[in-house]
Amino acid sequence: MSEPLVLGIESSCDETGVALVRGNDLLVDSVASSVEEHARFGGIIPEIASRAHLEAMVPTLSRALQIADVDLGSIDAIAVTAGPGLVGPLTVGVSAAKALALATGKPLYGVNHVIGHAAVDQLVHGEFPERFLALVVSGGHSSMLLVDDIATGVRELGSTLDDAAGEAFDKVGRLLGLPYPGGPHIDRLAREGDPAAIRFPRGLTSAKDQAAHAYDFSFSGLKTAVARWVEAREAVGQELPLADISASFAAAVADVLTAKTIAACERHGLDTVVIGGGFSANSQLRDMAALRCAEAGITLRVPPIRYCTDNGAMIAALGASMIRAGVAPSRLDFGVDSSMP
Ligand code: KG4
Ligand code: ZN
Repeated sequence: MSEPLVLGIESSCDETGVALVRGNDLLVDSVASSVEEHARFGGIIPEIASRAHLEAMVPTLSRALQIADVDLGSIDAIAVTAGPGLVGPLTVGVSAAKALALATGKPLYGVNHVIGHAAVDQLVHGEFPERFLALVVSGGHSSMLLVDDIATGVRELGSTLDDAAGEAFDKVGRLLGLPYPGGPHIDRLAREGDPAAIRFPRGLTSAKDQAAHAYDFSFSGLKTAVARWVEAREAVGQELPLADISASFAAAVADVLTAKTIAACERHGLDTVVIGGGFSANSQLRDMAALRCAEAGITLRVPPIRYCTDNGAMIAALGASMIRAGVAPSRLDFGVDSSMP
């Protein structure tokens, strides 16, 4: 018997995503984004994102069905992001998914967005090994997950205590006067600079912090250190060496993320790392992860960037895994959980 055809719906932040997956095959992945509407505010405005999802949801769904040449009746199951994320945006996707489940009589699975960022890698690199480590890094999350089974056995080893990695880049971007989102601009500048020019702090890496927060991250002290460094230069009227600041800052973030990832693999005897989330586009993280994983004999799996930013494919992939694992569908009265663990 062929694998079920799973419709995935994502709306936790500013991307409206609809995708169809059968097994590990992606049939279509349709995404609409409201990111440009938020740019002038320098951050996501939940109310604007909710309205944009409401307007984009049905057209994005229709487009996906049309491209895949599939009618609603042939879908076997529906998966939707139930959390974490912004309440208003999540509610739009969950309402749409419930309406579809009720109309078609097909089972509905409310799924965890952060786990979806790891699950999507199956569509690119195939079946997962028995156990692996997933590092999910984006503008909203920085989590390290120990995965025994992507559908039923995911444990969070650590996460950020303050800013997410992408968020830290965007905040430093703002203080360097770069356009929003600053992440990609810092990445580009960093490639021209010297990562050893300024020694910025590595959060939660002291012996004391390691004991309590071995796999947690903290980037707000680093952001403050960059701000102080910039203020000191500006106070004496010196021009800012943007490339060196960017390279040194990006190196500090990539150093902590990769060092803790490798340490977690060694501690738990894991030989595969999956990196997901929009921040995995970052060149400094990619380069350092590739180097350190190779040195440690660890297989590194990073999907192409279009799978790493928010999309419906990651939600459909996780839904398909839950069906394969025999997980029971959600009841149709489940709510959204903005801070889902
Ligand atoms: O996953 P994503 O598209 O949206 C969230 O769910 O947050 O991630 C976007 C985040 C933003 O903070 C953006 O600045 C950052 O990832 N980002 C980058 C790069 N590309 C995106 N940060 C650093 N370097 C990049 N190349
Ligand atoms: Zn995300």
